[in-house]
Amino acid sequence: MQTVVNKVSYLKGETEVAPDKSISHRTVILSALAEGRSRVKNFLEAEDTWSSCKCLQALGLTIQKQDKELIIDSPGIDALQEPARVLDCGNSGTTMRMLAGLLAGRPFMTVLSGDDSLNQRPMQRVITPLSMMGANFMARRGNYPPLAVQGGQLQGIEYHMPVASAQVKSALLLAGLQAEGVTAVLEEHASRDHTERMLMAMGAKLEVKPGQVRVIPGAKLSPQDWEVPGDVSSAAFWLVAASIVPNSEVLLKRVGINPTRTGILEVLKQMGARITVLDAQTIAGEPVADLLVQSAPLQAVEIEGEIIPRLIDELPVIAVAMTAAQGVSVVRDAAELRVKETDRIAAICSQLSRMGAAIEATPDGFIVDGSKSHIQGGTVDSFGDHRIAMSLAVAGLIADQSTYINNAEAVNISYPGFWDTIKILSR
Ligand code: S3P
Repeated sequence: MQTVVNKVSYLKGETEVAPDKSISHRTVILSALAEGRSRVKNFLEAEDTWSSCKCLQALGLTIQKQDKELIIDSPGIDALQEPARVLDCGNSGTTMRMLAGLLAGRPFMTVLSGDDSLNQRPMQRVITPLSMMGANFMARRGNYPPLAVQGGQLQGIEYHMPVASAQVKSALLLAGLQAEGVTAVLEEHASRDHTERMLMAMGAKLEVKPGQVRVIPGAKLSPQDWEVPGDVSSAAFWLVAASIVPNSEVLLKRVGINPTRTGILEVLKQMGARITVLDAQTIAGEPVADLLVQSAPLQAVEIEGEIIPRLIDELPVIAVAMTAAQGVSVVRDAAELRVKETDRIAAICSQLSRMGAAIEATPDGFIVDGSKSHIQGGTVDSFGDHRIAMSLAVAGLIADQSTYINNAEAVNISYPGFWDTIKILSR
């Protein structure tokens, strides 16, 4: 599907952004551990999270929508069933990698597969440590899905993660809960910690220190009532759009502001953005606030190191902010972007260049000369990647001419209401 985006003269009003995708996946996957009924308010109803639901149903959970809640009934971890068919994880890396960890400790065989994008994404990062714990895996060239896992009795390990990845950390915690002995996961830079927060709420014994999580198996986990905050990764599109579209003022309601996710707020503020955090509170163990964003002139920025995992998914839309900022911006240490739903460094650099940006790819990031960028519009492609589609749409809001985005339906992976929200905020 092709969607056209035109320049707007302002963005105004308030909106609830899409519910958090990472937390929504986890409500379903973690509920499998605890026998009984879990309930989820504000579950993200999008393609990615339906993939998690379908996989968990095939493993023996009952999942239904009742009024506005998702109701999840689990037979408990020990009663999960061997699925008779391949589990389809769709486009979702979080589903496949977290399930690899959950299933590593189950005494049966499961095959996990996905769409063309997911089946080209690396799985060695979970296969290696989970095999050290005692599970058996088969994968194409040892790295790519379909991924077959034969689970069994696991042993705890101490594992230093070579790349900061919440998906890998979560897989190891799920396996560690089923292992004999303690599992310790060490990370150089902090990745998102939703799994740790949620497992602790369920009663799991976890020791969390900066750079290290230890899971002590044996605790009985109980089902929960969850409430999912708005996704800061979805809010990111409006944070950038309302900053760069003149005369804008947008209030984003109930957005998750977990510090492992808010690198985008720090970077935009450093660039000169006018963002105010209002009414901060804690909901179901996660910090949440309203974010007020008003247009502002932006300055170039350099980002690297510790902050990268805390804004990894926002880098494509940060690139758009950089095209509207005075001076030369640089992103380093973000080679992980090359193994997301698409090679996001290649995708955002090639497509923003087509639109008139002065942006150049580097092996681990990009360089943007905002002073030499002039967004004109044109025909671009999301390559089926939801965050590329939405980032290009944000660029289209300041383009001189129309922007035609091919494969625009990719937004349904994480943010089905995205196009409607543009219309509402710009009318
Ligand atoms: C996610 C972790 C990140 C992120 C992805 C969601 C999660 O991936 O990019 O969109 O829910 O744990 P990595 O763990 O590969 O860094």
